[in-house]
Amino acid sequence: MSEVAKIELDGKVYELPIIVGTENEKAIDISKLRDVTGYVTLDTGYKNTGATTSSITFLDGEEGILHYRGYPIEQLAEKATFLEVSYLLIYGALPTTKQLEEFENSIKKHTLVHEDMKRFFEAYPAKAHPMGVLSSMISSLSTFYPESLDPNRSADMKNLTVHRLIAKLPTLAAWSFKNSLSHPFMYPKNEYGYVKNFLYMMFGMPTEEFHVDPVVISALNTLLILHADHEQNCSTSTVRIVGSSNANLYSTISAGISALWGPLHGGANQEVIEMLEQIQADGGNVDKWVAKAKDKEDPFRLMGFGHRVYKNFDPRATIIKKACDEVLIKLGINDPLLDIAKKLEKVALEDEYFKARNLYPNVDFYSGIIYKALGIPTDMFTVMFALGRLPGWIAQWKEMTENKEPIGRPRQIYTGFTKRDYINIEER
Ligand code: SDX
Repeated sequence: MSEVAKIELDGKVYELPIIVGTENEKAIDISKLRDVTGYVTLDTGYKNTGATTSSITFLDGEEGILHYRGYPIEQLAEKATFLEVSYLLIYGALPTTKQLEEFENSIKKHTLVHEDMKRFFEAYPAKAHPMGVLSSMISSLSTFYPESLDPNRSADMKNLTVHRLIAKLPTLAAWSFKNSLSHPFMYPKNEYGYVKNFLYMMFGMPTEEFHVDPVVISALNTLLILHADHEQNCSTSTVRIVGSSNANLYSTISAGISALWGPLHGGANQEVIEMLEQIQADGGNVDKWVAKAKDKEDPFRLMGFGHRVYKNFDPRATIIKKACDEVLIKLGINDPLLDIAKKLEKVALEDEYFKARNLYPNVDFYSGIIYKALGIPTDMFTVMFALGRLPGWIAQWKEMTENKEPIGRPRQIYTGFTKRDYINIEER
C-alpha cells in the first residue's frame, strides 16, 4: 500500500502522507495542504473528514462493530458494570478490584450538589424540558468550583472535576424530574450502587421504603454501557471543539448535552416513542407511515432509523431489541408500541427505499421502549442518553487535552459578495 497520496493541482503534483490506524482505517493527512498548495478541502457535515486520531472507541459501520478500548460492546454489555466501563473509557484499562473500589468510593463522595443549586430549580417553569435544566445546571457547577475554571490547573483537579461530574449528573438529572412533578428531592444514598442510587433519586419517596426489581437495574446498566461512547459523533465533536478552547470541563460537557438534545442525534429516542404513539393513535397503519418517510414532500422521517456511520446494522440496536423482549416479559409488561416498532422495522427493512439507503434501526429505535417499561418519562429519555454518554465525552475531552491538540478552527469557502462600497441609507 503506498505511503503517500499524489494530488495534481494546477499542473503540479503534490504528495500527501497516508496514515493507517490499528484497525486498518486509512486517511490522507491534509494538515499541511493549505500551506503547500493554497487549497483547503470542503466536506459539509464532515462525512469524509477525520477530526483526530483516537484510541478510545472503534466502530466499523459496514460490519456493525463497536469496541471500547478494544473490548467488544457485546461482552461489556453482558459482563461489566457502567462504572467499570466508565473507568475503562476514561483511564484506558479495565480497573482491578482495588481500582474500581477506589473509583466507586470517590464517586460516592461527590454525589451531593451545593444546597444553593436547589434554588435554581424553583425558577424553572413546571414543564421545563429536563435537557434544558441539565445543560444549565452542569454549566452552573463551574460557578461553585472556581478552581476548576482552568481545566489544566493540575492532574488532581482534573480528576476531581471528572469524578464530580460523574457523581453529580445523576443527582441533577433525577432532581429535574422530581422538580417537574413538584415532588420532594431525594438525596443520594451511598449504600446503593450507581444505577440503583439514580433510580432511588428518580422514583424513591421519603414516605416509603424503596424497592426496585433487579431486572430494572440490570437493564439500565446495559443501556448506559451501550450509550457510553461512539467516537466522533455530533455531541462528542462538540465537546472536543468547545474543550479545545480551554473552556472548563463543566461548560464543555454542558455544550455536549445541548448538541445531544437535537432530534437528529440523542433527541431521537424521545421522537421515536412519540412517533410510535402517533402511529398507534392513527390506527397502527405502519405502511402509511413508511410511505410518509419515503415521500420527499413530507418532512416526516422514520425516527430511530438511519445512521451516519452504520450502513449495515447498529450493534447496539441488536442488543437493545433483545433486551426489550426480555425486560418486558420479566416485568410482565405488554406494550403495544413494541409490536408497532417490530412491524415498522420489518416493513422498512423489506422496502427498497430503506435498503437502497442502508437505513436500519439505530440505538434510539428500541431504547425508548425499555425506558418506558422502566417507568422513565419520555422527556427524560435524552437525559438517560446524556447519563450514558458522559464518560465517553469525558474520555474524548481528556484524550484531546492530553494530546495537546490545537484549538479547533475549520476553514471555509466564501461564496458571498466580493468587495463593494458602503451605500448611504438615503441612496438604498
Ligand atoms: C444518534 O453519529 C453517531 O454516532 C450518533 C449516535 C451516537 O451514539 O452518538 O449513534 C446517536 O444520533 C443516532 C441517530 C439518531 N437520529 C435519528 O434516528 C433521526 C432519524 N435519522 C436521520 O435523520 C438520519 O438517518 C441521520 C441524521 C441519523 C443520519 O443522517 P445522514 O447520514 O446525514 O444521512 P442523510 O440525512 O444524508 O440521509 C441519506 C438519505 C436521504 O435520502 P436521499 O436524499 O438520499 O434521497 O437517507 C434518507 C435521507 O432522506 N434518510 C431517511 C432517514 N434517514 C436518512 N429517510 C427516512 N427516514 C430516516 N430516518
